[in-house]
Amino acid sequence: MSEPKVWAKKSTFIFAAAGSAIGLGNLWKFPYMVGENGGGAFVIVYLLCVLLIGLPLMMSETIVGKYSHGNAIDAIGVTAERSGASQGWRGIAVLSMVVIFIILSFYSVIAGWAFDYTKAFMMGDMGHSAKEVGAYFGDLLADPKRLIIWHTVFMFLTAIIIARGAQEGIEKALGIMMPVLFILLFIVVGYSAFATGAFGKTLTYMFSPDFSKITPMVVINAMGQAFFSLSLGMCVIMTYAAYMRKDVSITESSIYVSGLDTLMALLAGLAIFPIVFANGLDSGSGPGLLFVTLSTAFTQLGTMGTILGVSFFFLVIIAALSSSISMVEPFVKWCEEHLGWNRFAVTFLYCFAVWAFGLITVFSFNIWGKVDVLGTGKNPFDLLDFVTSSICLPIGGLLVSIYVGWVMNKDISREQLSTLSGALFGLWLFVVRFVAPVLITIVFISSVLGEEKMNALIQQILAIQNEPLLVLTLIV
Ligand code: PHE
Repeated sequence: MSEPKVWAKKSTFIFAAAGSAIGLGNLWKFPYMVGENGGGAFVIVYLLCVLLIGLPLMMSETIVGKYSHGNAIDAIGVTAERSGASQGWRGIAVLSMVVIFIILSFYSVIAGWAFDYTKAFMMGDMGHSAKEVGAYFGDLLADPKRLIIWHTVFMFLTAIIIARGAQEGIEKALGIMMPVLFILLFIVVGYSAFATGAFGKTLTYMFSPDFSKITPMVVINAMGQAFFSLSLGMCVIMTYAAYMRKDVSITESSIYVSGLDTLMALLAGLAIFPIVFANGLDSGSGPGLLFVTLSTAFTQLGTMGTILGVSFFFLVIIAALSSSISMVEPFVKWCEEHLGWNRFAVTFLYCFAVWAFGLITVFSFNIWGKVDVLGTGKNPFDLLDFVTSSICLPIGGLLVSIYVGWVMNKDISREQLSTLSGALFGLWLFVVRFVAPVLITIVFISSVLGEEKMNALIQQILAIQNEPLLVLTLIV
């Protein structure tokens, strides 16, 4: 057998996994989720979710990948074989590849918006008033041609980076992209901290939680967001872990990656909210927060606003690119290793297929905007987003935790987590076996049931707790 391909530098796994984790989930989704879910209340629950579920699951995926040094499907195959378990568990990786294909198809379209915004800020096309900026966003979404152009540019760049190969392509690209990302975000945070006069208010908003705002739905949203943001349940981290050098610690790397991802999300909040507050804008305006609200603020700042606008949306592109390449790698690696296909050809074919599928999302913002798919009340994009993010991600995470916690031979984990003390290893195993699956199941059920039914169910359960007789009957 040939030597497994591994990253040249010790730090590359951390760069690559953090690059995958940090993306639209941090810069676009996290701030608006904070705004919509009670500010500090959401932040504290989110932090707990990262610590209690995210980190242990990231370690689990990393163990499987690092142990086998292969693509995710074979990685599960190899560990299952050593554990005397069914090869059917490889289905987890197959499922996740289908899901990432769909996620990437709409991720690319949304990342394309950032290209358009970068160009608009450069050219001064954004307008000056809130109304003009709002209209700009509306016009962009209404124009399939423009959306397709940027979607194409984004997928093409993704394909070029991946086609160059895991070592040269990803390692070099990330070595430049990740530090630039940090520097640019710090510049915007610096501006927000010193020039807006609303930094204190932002700190209170984000970090002094009003505990009465922690509702079941806030917990559920925070957990879903943690999964998406940490790229978990998708075998993406598992795939990157296959390139991990033997001398790199899984625990340490996972702590760095989830820490960096969380730091980036918090920094995005610290960059955005002071501008929102200083301009009297609405922090709970939803998905438009980044594209409409923040741009409105930028356009009112003259030349400084142009510089900030260009830097910020360029930053979004970089972050999205380092995530999108991680979504292409699992399939390409499998084709390369398993079918022996040419990496370049596979990459371009796959990216073309994703691009074509992405047209569904493009048209969902205009000509198909009002189409109600199968009576779900959702247009095609909303449905794809819902099915992948709210249903498939939790299932993926659940399956990984069951596989690593219950099915896979414990010796594999023990060997791989050799730097952990006995007690810490026991704690990790307990979380992976019990805490994570139970919590994820709750998220999954709730996302299927929807907010109202979930709240009603929780009320019922709480009521049952107060009725000893009913509890007894249920137990019997
Ligand atoms: N974590 C990425 C983000 O925050 C998105 C992602 C999800 C990447 C799933 C890979 C797999 O934008």
